[in-house]
Amino acid sequence: MQALSGNDVIPSVSIVGCGTVGAALGKILSDAGYPIKGVATSRPETARAAGEKVGAHAYSDRPWEVTRGVDVVFITTPDDLIASVCAEIARHQGFDKNAVVIHCSGALSSDILSPARRGGALAASLHPLQSFATVNQAVRLVPGSFCTIEGDAEAMPVVRQIVHDLGGILLEIGKDKKTLYHAAAVAASNYLVTLLDFVLNLGEAAGMPRDMAFKAFHPLIMGTLNNVDARGIPDALTGPIARGDVETVSTHLKAMEEGAASFLPLYRCLGRFTVDLALAKKTITRERADILLKLLR
Ligand SMILES: NC(=O)c1ccc[n+]([C@@H]2O[C@H](COP(=O)([O-])OP(=O)(O)OC[C@H]3O[C@@H](n4cnc5c(N)ncnc54)[C@H](OP(=O)(O)O)[C@@H]3O)[C@@H](O)[C@H]2O)c1
Repeated sequence: MQALSGNDVIPSVSIVGCGTVGAALGKILSDAGYPIKGVATSRPETARAAGEKVGAHAYSDRPWEVTRGVDVVFITTPDDLIASVCAEIARHQGFDKNAVVIHCSGALSSDILSPARRGGALAASLHPLQSFATVNQAVRLVPGSFCTIEGDAEAMPVVRQIVHDLGGILLEIGKDKKTLYHAAAVAASNYLVTLLDFVLNLGEAAGMPRDMAFKAFHPLIMGTLNNVDARGIPDALTGPIARGDVETVSTHLKAMEEGAASFLPLYRCLGRFTVDLALAKKTITRERADILLKLLR
């Protein structure tokens, strides 16, 4: 590792799989003073372009050529290639003893990198809790984003330092909890899109043009997010279920049967979970909750 001053030591880095996330991490770390020794992708032409983008000293489509003699190796390929790419590098003795090998998948734990451990390297995962469409967007968004880490204890000081130098907010998680954590991230991002699609479809069924519906509901959505931020859950819950308004919920169900029947299962399911929140907020009685649950079954 390259010594800076005092106790500060900056590790050398190589990036295998230098697409959106790999290139962004490479760019931010390079700007923070990390030497980017090499990058590898699946083809020589993309490897060269990625190398130029992050200012790497070397590039290759044979990952082990850029990982030997390097302190930190990021494997930022698509998730379903991480294990095989790691195994291939290990087969070519591409990891130094005590090198820290990191992947950035939210769904997988560091155990997917076990071939690297067999040669004496250390395994970790570092997941930026964000969605990135482009390298430039990722370079802007990683600083200030939560970065969830787990892995071998000896690797953690280096991984924590990297999160700090990326400008990320550190969040440590148990290895065995990674899948549940990822399910939460899917709910926060993907299922939120599904929920908004549900809102827009009901708006359309009510006669609102779809492009106007999002604009119309936007202040309500943002107001609700602000309430959750300010007051937490269940206190931020408002509306007919929180008030125990059985008649209103009943008329919703009747109207949807006539005008938007395919969304009834989703409305009912969300409604049942909302009854639990209203109970937790203590704005409805157990008896009222049971009437609502029967209606929403
Ligand atoms: N994008 C996000 O929003 C986001 C957010 C958080 C975490 N992540 C995680 O970050 C990781 C990378 O995702 P990404 O979105 O950056 O993917 P990406 O943009 O598709 O980039 C994948 C990279 O892997 C390279 N690659 C493919 N096969 C390879 C191989 N056999 N050997 C070496 N390199 C290979 C590709 O090179 P070629 O161009 O030559 O194929 C490309 O450079 C994933 O684990 C993902 O879960 C992504």
